Amino acid sequence: MISIDESDLGTPRRDSDKLVTLTIDGEEITVPAGTSVMRAAASLGTKIPKLCATEQLEAFGSCRLCLVQIEGMKGLPASCTTLVSQGMKVTTQNEKIADVRRGVMELYISDHPLDCLTCPANGHCELQDMAGAVGLREVRYGYEGENHLNLGKDTSNPYFTFDASKCIVCSRCVRACEEQQGTFALTIQGRGFDSKVSPSQNESFMDSECVSCGACVQACPTATLSEKSLISMGQAEHSVVTTCAYCGVGCSFRAEMKGEEVVRMVPNKDGHANHGHSCVKGRFAIGYATHTDRILKPMIRAKISDPWREVSWQEAISHAASELKRIQAKYGRDSIGGITSSRCSNEETYLVQKLIRAGFGNNNVDTCARVCHSPTGYGLKQTLGESAGTQDFDSVMKADVIFVIGANPTDGHPVFASQMKRRLRQGAKLIVADPRRIDLVKSPHITASHHLKLFPGTNVALINSLAHVVVTEGLVKEDFVRARCEVDSFEKWRTFVALERNSPEAMESVTGVPAAEVRGAARLYATAGNGAIFYGLGVTEHSQGSTMVMGIANLAMATGNVGREGVGVNPLRGQNNVQGSCDMGSFPHEFPGYRHVSDDTVRHLFETTWGVGLQNEPGLRIPNMFEAALDGEFMGLYIEGEDIAQSDPNTQHVTAALSAMECIIVQDLFLNESAKFAHVFLPGSSFLEKDGTFTNAERRISRVRKVMQPKSGYADWEITQLLSNAMGYPMNYKHPSEIMDEIAKLTPTFTGVSFKRIDELGSIQWPCNDAHPNGTPTMHVDEFVRGKGRFLVTEYVPTREKVNAKYPLILTTGRILSQYNVGAQTRRTENNVWHDEDRLEIHPHDAEERGIADEDWVGVRSRAGETVLRARVTERVQPGVVYTTFHFPESGANVITTDNSDWATNCPEYKVTAVQATRVSQPSAWQKNFRDFTEQQESLLKAAEAVSVK
Ligand code: SF4
Ligand code: SF4
Ligand code: SF4
Ligand code: FES
Repeated sequence: MISIDESDLGTPRRDSDKLVTLTIDGEEITVPAGTSVMRAAASLGTKIPKLCATEQLEAFGSCRLCLVQIEGMKGLPASCTTLVSQGMKVTTQNEKIADVRRGVMELYISDHPLDCLTCPANGHCELQDMAGAVGLREVRYGYEGENHLNLGKDTSNPYFTFDASKCIVCSRCVRACEEQQGTFALTIQGRGFDSKVSPSQNESFMDSECVSCGACVQACPTATLSEKSLISMGQAEHSVVTTCAYCGVGCSFRAEMKGEEVVRMVPNKDGHANHGHSCVKGRFAIGYATHTDRILKPMIRAKISDPWREVSWQEAISHAASELKRIQAKYGRDSIGGITSSRCSNEETYLVQKLIRAGFGNNNVDTCARVCHSPTGYGLKQTLGESAGTQDFDSVMKADVIFVIGANPTDGHPVFASQMKRRLRQGAKLIVADPRRIDLVKSPHITASHHLKLFPGTNVALINSLAHVVVTEGLVKEDFVRARCEVDSFEKWRTFVALERNSPEAMESVTGVPAAEVRGAARLYATAGNGAIFYGLGVTEHSQGSTMVMGIANLAMATGNVGREGVGVNPLRGQNNVQGSCDMGSFPHEFPGYRHVSDDTVRHLFETTWGVGLQNEPGLRIPNMFEAALDGEFMGLYIEGEDIAQSDPNTQHVTAALSAMECIIVQDLFLNESAKFAHVFLPGSSFLEKDGTFTNAERRISRVRKVMQPKSGYADWEITQLLSNAMGYPMNYKHPSEIMDEIAKLTPTFTGVSFKRIDELGSIQWPCNDAHPNGTPTMHVDEFVRGKGRFLVTEYVPTREKVNAKYPLILTTGRILSQYNVGAQTRRTENNVWHDEDRLEIHPHDAEERGIADEDWVGVRSRAGETVLRARVTERVQPGVVYTTFHFPESGANVITTDNSDWATNCPEYKVTAVQATRVSQPSAWQKNFRDFTEQQESLLKAAEAVSVK
């Protein structure tokens, strides 16, 4: 049985250098100043009854159950809102206190349905527990008078219900929504007896501003707010701590289980990345893991026009291996390769790249980070010396100015966004650089000091003009630069950014941002104290993505904003393990730990440990694989957990390349878009079915723990191992912990990492080695990883993607809170109620010019292709810019994106596509073909399932 949180000490922890000693029930205790009497008592093991207090929220003092007696104070003060003081003498129990507490409980219970035995909270209801704790034996008031027992239920949210008849108006939900989530969707309306919890203006939860994070559900001490899964399944029997498999925040959860079924996911309050908070995806959107669309049997076919044939694991693996060997014999050793995934664990990713390097004998391994954060790896390595963010998330609580560039944290990284918003409500300043008015620009109690609404594709022009202000207005932290950076490179950079052509005034016509705004933002960032930069794909997915990352690092170094808490350069990583998949050597030119394959010493280390000779030349990147396939030179591909046919740019080019290959092996949960071009399908496992680790955006390595057996019989790492053995390269791991041990042995930044050590510490931020046995929350503290920080000149080079009369608008793309990337997971959950199709956002001015009204079908045509989306006319986007999400394959967002890419890493320029938009009445030719092809592939799949049922 999972019970209520016994370790809840009632009010939040306080940190203070000043200590206070007091006596509670005759026992002395010393606690930090600012601690509540309730928490001090709980630290001594004395649990004072409470209802409105929880350590996740600030004390409120409304229920009056926690009253105590304090020598020298009048009456009975509430222990949750009374702070300790030196020499205080507290009594937590006597007859008078007990009487008052019973009286309070009696009033609550007299207006509460007594259906405890059938209530979903039975066994973990704090009201029930408190009735027991205060020794309530009778309720004298009867139930005849006015009460709330007949109030209705709000079941509008797909994941939880609100049963007003059970509400004790403790306002924990309201405070959770404000303090933890920062949405302010709930209020207490009315007074006294009439007070009630109300989403927005008396709306249903579904119609309100609620973003379904579930914080209120978790905070509720009664069954008023309850998960629907808990209501239907009953209380869990055991729980396992694991890590969310959605985004790069990496929230820790307790999966509460009944046998092998998940009853609910409860955010882990000891989770270092999330501190007990979550978003709608991690807490609720896990239904995909058991969705009927999952394919659980291996399948093979000779051609993609053939029906699939279900086969044994043995047949599937030996067929896959023999095909790969056949292709190598015919086309050469380098004619095959593989793609790892940021959805998969470190151990799985490591194994795939090992299979390719050691088993396939080439370096043709790449990962989906190619299309998102590869410029981060390159840009930060060049300047700071390490391909990762510099801080932990908690560092934001010490920032004085937060600069968000090309990221939309409330949609993309919601739990971190809530933490960031908490800091902003405390008074930190905010600068946002984004072509679109993201929610953060103006949200409850937060207004950005500057919204730099730049034109897509002009990031580098903007960063140079910000740097120009810093350099020319004497805002450089000279001491820091002299002590910590390469002075020559700094001088070169200073001279460059000081050029008049980089001034905000000169750049205004390029970026579209008024020069005064740029000057104001630069001054604020450089002078407000601790300046922290957070950036996302709006920085990296450009032809100058790497240049912009370097530009950001330059600016941070010049202003001394690196190397301590509250500052830094922080890429908000998209997927759960995108940091890890890069760390694990998924790129064709690098072994694990970002070491080049041409480095003889490093390669020799891997050769010795893996017992095989390795190539010393980089292999093919994903776009090169496509080109080689179309040239008839690259004919076999192993894809684990990645859907390149939907997520890579210029879809028609990608599908042509996939169609050209002779053997595509897809290892995944579903028949995704790439699997429709596959010849072998190996059913993968969800994060609930395997052990391993994920590394989040903070470099934090956390455990993923198996809560159920793999539904297809094998965890993903086991499938890769089977394939490797069949290819003739032996692998004999018994458990993923052995894979991590090998990673630690071969990778200097991971030397101290093991499953045991992670279990001891909860999570570890790499580097973790002899010098940093507990990991490294803040990097580059005394010196940069590369020694001296290096400034690089970042000349602005306009993208080749130009608007003209034929393509007068710029399309840019992004994500929405309820869906996740290609949508393979979230589209198979109730999250569709919030977003069931991708829309084209268009400014009213552009819409009117084209005769487009809200909801109209709009043809979006670029130099690469055309698709049709429904219009959303909105001022969120600026004139000349249109925007869409890309969560549904039939939207074809990547049919229109082009082949342009980052000069250094080939990361596609998803964020800048010149398009025309016109009102249309039918789907595009591509969409019609897509539907026909999908229908055909689904019927070929059904054929396999029908044979299997017989
Ligand atoms: S819904 Fe729950 S948390 Fe909110 S006021 Fe009612 S009892 Fe308290
Ligand atoms: S689910 Fe989250 S956003 Fe919605 S009301 Fe509750 S706390 Fe607020
Ligand atoms: S913020 Fe990211 S990691 Fe956390 S619950 Fe949401 S999707 Fe999962
Ligand atoms: S717990 Fe202190 S007043 Fe409610």
